[in-house]
Amino acid sequence: MDLLARTPRGTEDVLPEKSRIWRYIEGQLADIFALFGYEEIRTPIFEETELFQRGIGETTDIVEKEMYTFVDRGGRSLTLRPEGTAPVVRAYLQHKLYGEPQPVKLYYIGPMFRYERPQAGRSRQFHQFGAEALGTQDPAVDAEMIAIPVELFRRLGLDAVQVQINSIGCPQCRGEYRSYLIDTLTPKLQEMCADCQRRLQRNPLRVLDCKDESCNKVKVGLRPILDFLCSECQAHFRAVQDYLELLEIPYVINHNLVRGFDYYTKTVFEIVYSGLGAQSAVAGGGRYDGLIEEVGGPSVPAVGFAAGMERLILTLEDRGWEPPGTRGTTVYVAGAGQTRRAVVDLVFHLRRAGVAAEMDYLNRSLRAQMKSANRLNAVWTVIIGEEELERKVAVVRHMESGRQEEVPLDSVMDWLGEQLAATSCQGAEE
Ligand code: HAM
Repeated sequence: MDLLARTPRGTEDVLPEKSRIWRYIEGQLADIFALFGYEEIRTPIFEETELFQRGIGETTDIVEKEMYTFVDRGGRSLTLRPEGTAPVVRAYLQHKLYGEPQPVKLYYIGPMFRYERPQAGRSRQFHQFGAEALGTQDPAVDAEMIAIPVELFRRLGLDAVQVQINSIGCPQCRGEYRSYLIDTLTPKLQEMCADCQRRLQRNPLRVLDCKDESCNKVKVGLRPILDFLCSECQAHFRAVQDYLELLEIPYVINHNLVRGFDYYTKTVFEIVYSGLGAQSAVAGGGRYDGLIEEVGGPSVPAVGFAAGMERLILTLEDRGWEPPGTRGTTVYVAGAGQTRRAVVDLVFHLRRAGVAAEMDYLNRSLRAQMKSANRLNAVWTVIIGEEELERKVAVVRHMESGRQEEVPLDSVMDWLGEQLAATSCQGAEE
């Protein structure tokens, strides 16, 4: 196939059938975010590169090798956003949202970009929906960040996911754990993968979530970070667990969960679905009490999550999920002979009145038009033939029962309106 007729590697088109699923999920999200008190924020697709370097961390995989960074014609280094948290924090500072009543609770849905090796569930342009609550250290909000995606999954009938949580402490207690890891692992350096050998000194926690076989071996017997938490971090983590129990959200503690960003403090979590293979995390997030200060703002605690839309849809497909039926064409208007103007007139007036209406655009025979009406699952078909037009009537057929009758052309709109109102009332009673 011609290269020009293909999306770039790691990207995909969302064709109508899948787009229907997207819209259904987005509709549920809008509802859930409103219930939880989050308002939408839309930030630019690209930001100053430094925001991500400072925010996400220089030694993370994302900053080291996955960013889409380019120099624009004005010589600025810009980066297509690999995630949504740093941009939300930037907006919080730029618009001085810390001066408003706290916490500021924001959500977003949009494309993110990471130069990763594409595979099932991992692409270079993907979409996240997520939320950030800035200006509170209340552990109830940590639990809320888990409860939001869990509520969405509940509505989608997705109960086969697992909530994994951990705490990576604050800079103080984490510092002790880092030293412990460096001391314990340095003698085994040669047994570790090249990436971990390189980053042991600078980012030893990443060894914990390295999937490499050799690193798995050196991890055996390591003490968990929870052993090192200071009393404040311990109490916070205990409170998060209490809230999850109160909300009846099952969870497991994963001692190796550290997440690939430098900004996290205290709570981290992922929601995983095992049917997805290697890319099992459908959602992830955590608390980032130091990030706002790190990028030049006041010291403000915050917490958030993000989920991958494509991964969620893959999960739903794996579970055989179908979106609830969406409304298509309600009325098909078929014409035969010189009745085009009457057909166009009726179709456009139906649409204006809020009735989904369709017609033929290819000068097809009446028979072929009836087939189209069937294919589109039209509830009613209005047939306007030349002879009917002369008598100023139309034939209206109920497609499912085959019942049909003649209706004066100038009252077809009202007639259909009554029929449709009657059927929607019936539907409501059922
Ligand atoms: P993250 O874990 O990097 O966290 O991404 C969140 C979710 O985005 C993942 O669980 C996954 O479903 C999806 N995702 C990530 N990378 C890809 C990819 N290459 N292809 C497809 N899906 C992907 C964050 O981005 C943090 N900003 C979350 C957060 C918000 N933490 C605090 N607030």
